[in-house]
Amino acid sequence: MAKQPNMFVVGMFWGDEGKAKIVDLLTENANVVVRYQGGANAGHSVEIDGERFVLHQVPTGILHPEKTCVLGAGMVIDMPALANELAELEKQGISWRGRIMISPRAHFVLPYHKQIEEIAEAKAGIGTTKRGIGPAYRDKATRIGIRLGDALLGKANLIAKLERWISESGEMFKKAYSVDFQSPPDVAATIMSAVDFVGDAISSPGAYIDETARTKGGILAEGAQGTMLSVSWGTYPFVTSSETTAGGAATGLGIDMRLFDKIIGVAKAFCTRVGNGPFPTEGDEELQRKLRGTGEHAYDEFGSTTGRPRRCGWLDGVVLRYATRINGIDAIALTKLDCLSGIDELKIAAKYVDYAEFPVTSEEAEKVEPIYKTFPGWNEDISRINDFNKLPVDAQRYVHEIERIAMVPVEFVGVGPGRKDIILK
Ligand code: GDP
Ligand code: IMO
Ligand code: MG
Repeated sequence: MAKQPNMFVVGMFWGDEGKAKIVDLLTENANVVVRYQGGANAGHSVEIDGERFVLHQVPTGILHPEKTCVLGAGMVIDMPALANELAELEKQGISWRGRIMISPRAHFVLPYHKQIEEIAEAKAGIGTTKRGIGPAYRDKATRIGIRLGDALLGKANLIAKLERWISESGEMFKKAYSVDFQSPPDVAATIMSAVDFVGDAISSPGAYIDETARTKGGILAEGAQGTMLSVSWGTYPFVTSSETTAGGAATGLGIDMRLFDKIIGVAKAFCTRVGNGPFPTEGDEELQRKLRGTGEHAYDEFGSTTGRPRRCGWLDGVVLRYATRINGIDAIALTKLDCLSGIDELKIAAKYVDYAEFPVTSEEAEKVEPIYKTFPGWNEDISRINDFNKLPVDAQRYVHEIERIAMVPVEFVGVGPGRKDIILK
């Protein structure tokens, strides 16, 4: 059998672009689906025959029996939440045992991280998902993080690491925030029971991924969040705490980037953002209502992880171009084109006044003035169309404009939430 391509799937905007749906589609021709960063802040939804699955820490590939899924070293893992997610999948008829590998180099999200974030967030106002992501990555960077491998050395070792954390870091937060922390033995007991639940799934996946990438191929890297939430390239400080771009996969998996054949950027047909921070094309109330939907459909713009209404606005061509460059996007998967049906006039931000590309600081990004190009809309319901040439001419023109701006082809066009609601262009 010919070697299958190794591919990345990354979000081009502020997350929730519909990455899971594209990963689900591509999994058919993959062998291993890997998450390389982030944690339970992600909410990846897939609809199969009307049934909806929302994955947080488990790679979307789990929905395809027989495929292997890896939670990579670059992730921060909430172990009890992961055990719950797996148990929930089991209830939905998805078997995962023997199909999952979790890197012992991944860091734990501890209950302490969520407590700290709850308080810090009230001051910082980033609008995080409160899954403890920022504090867990801070501990990783300041070298007092605790890794899954530490638990494999036994409960006593884990308790010792937790005690060290309390004395080197916890005491400081205790004083600053007047917060009480659960005792290390109690935390260790909860974590160890989740570790026992996953059994031998915690086992170094690096050599296996490398070998598969070189021989059979079919490694599919599933990015979480999006380019504009990258800690290095996003709207800092209104970002997540991991490297969400394709480059993050190299460090998050420990893999030779040259083994990858293709980088697919997922872009929604309009932009959304959940949480605070700059969003140059954010619409007025009326436009936001139109783009968001009422909540009547599961795919309406309300967060998959927190249920918060997403902020909505026109597609931002400056961001599209920037994300294409930062990630080295080869092709775009455009989702939710169906959601633009019935809007008389559509707009795309072609550029910003005074800025050639997305500004560095959030202060500047808050003030940029987009210059829009206007396009006629279409009224037809396009959700049953499966041939690009059968789309209304104005919908085709809208997609061609996206290709013109990004200077890469749009290869997939999403016309509905279901597994089969996609046009291969
Ligand atoms: P992710 O985090 O990037 O995987 O995206 P989410 O799952 O958080 O949000 C995307 C939402 O859009 C989900 O509710 C999907 O079911 C839905 N979706 C994805 N593609 C399409 C599409 O082409 N049309 C419609 N109507 N919904 C879509
Ligand atoms: P998926 O993978 C959309 C946002 C939060 C907040 C910022 C920081 O489903 O696309 P964090 O909890 O990560 O410290 O929050 O990032 N955010 C997301 N927004 N989709 C996501 O994931 C997100 N994960 C984090 O709303 O603005
Ligand atoms: Mg999401």
